[in-house]
Amino acid sequence: MNASSDVLIIGGGVIGLAIAIELKLRSYSVTVLSRDFHAAASHAAAGMLAPQAEAIPTSPMLDLCLRSRSLYPEWTRKLEELSGEPTGYWSCGILAPVYQASDNQKDVAYWLDQDAINLYQPGLGAEVVGGWWYPEDAQVDNRALVRALWTAAKSLGVNLCDQITVEGIQQQQRSVVAVQTSAGISRAEHYVLATGAWSNELLPLPVRPKKGQMLAVRAPDVNSKGLPLQRVLFGSDIYIVPRHDGRSVIGATSEEVGFTPHNTPFGIQALLERAIRLYPQLQDYPIQEFWWGFRPATPDELPILGASPCHNLTLATGHYRNGILLAPVTATLIADLILKQNDPLLDHFHYSRFYQNRSQDNSLSPLLTCSPPPLLP
Ligand code: FAD
Ligand code: GLY
Repeated sequence: MNASSDVLIIGGGVIGLAIAIELKLRSYSVTVLSRDFHAAASHAAAGMLAPQAEAIPTSPMLDLCLRSRSLYPEWTRKLEELSGEPTGYWSCGILAPVYQASDNQKDVAYWLDQDAINLYQPGLGAEVVGGWWYPEDAQVDNRALVRALWTAAKSLGVNLCDQITVEGIQQQQRSVVAVQTSAGISRAEHYVLATGAWSNELLPLPVRPKKGQMLAVRAPDVNSKGLPLQRVLFGSDIYIVPRHDGRSVIGATSEEVGFTPHNTPFGIQALLERAIRLYPQLQDYPIQEFWWGFRPATPDELPILGASPCHNLTLATGHYRNGILLAPVTATLIADLILKQNDPLLDHFHYSRFYQNRSQDNSLSPLLTCSPPPLLP
């Protein structure tokens, strides 16, 4: 494994692949090393593009999310053209039904009373008293998206290597000189860390896994009767995301259990109870699949984007609940940065925010050592 590229990306989830394509389109030679393409959170996600339904407060994070959501139609169109594969982008809007009316006003959402919400989506549970309608939120079929990204990257000539683990990042005087992998040493001019929930294995970054369990059901007779669910339903601790083919993805738990694998009866029971309360007819749908994944969570729930202590290592991790949504904007901003065009929005997501109070003389030092992760406030 001595092939040398301009840029070597560690991690082949949605973030690593999106950055790889963006750089390749700007004429860089790019290698992606990924331990396990199929273990990525990007496969496990629901694919909601939901900054408003997820109630992200007005902040640089909301600006980042809205910018990314607005890039989605053109970005997926281009990927579909490059790959010849669908991405399942669907501007279906998101309905957030509630069981208790509230007086809150929301600039970006429309309040629907019980009659109105049942016109938008027939078949809601009898306890639903109304809800919010977010017409600009959308969804993508994240598994189809990741397949399209992989095919597009391959067809553009990105060197994609799955089943390769990066075991260490060799640094000298604030430069990465090589990465040590399960298949030998690999070098590049520039490196990008996009290893999601596993980032802390390579650098002492405060990224930890937040497990989410999911399941999927399939509506019967879609060909003859049409799709029963036409919008994403976003309830309290539950969401139901319908796909065009009649499958509905139901999620998700949010658990602090490290990398503990598998679905549990407790997790799945909770999801099914909440989903049936929200949309009762799915109690009779055949169950298709159960799975789980690990969100890359940070202490402030914001991503870590941009420069690192090493001048030739860029960070793109910690996307937590919104990595599918944030893929296009992350790819654009990170490619711009590698080309020395720093968007000021990136400053809000710099890793040093976690170290500012710890090290007066050199706030970069924790990442330069390969010591255990620092304790965070
Ligand atoms: P990942 O997709 O996890 O990819 C990381 C890759 O790096 C993996 O392939 C891994 O094998 C590889 N890797 C790790 N360590 C190494 C190493 N040492 N060497 C080589 N390779 C390595 N986001 C949304 O926007 N909308 C949603 O609706 C949504 N729903 C979600 C539901 C669930 C249940 C979960 C778990 C997540 C959800 N997310 C959602 C969040 C989203 O999935 C993540 O934020 C996003 O997938 C992170 O992408 P990533 O590329 O950073 O990481
Ligand atoms: N964004 C949905 C989730 O992380 O479960």
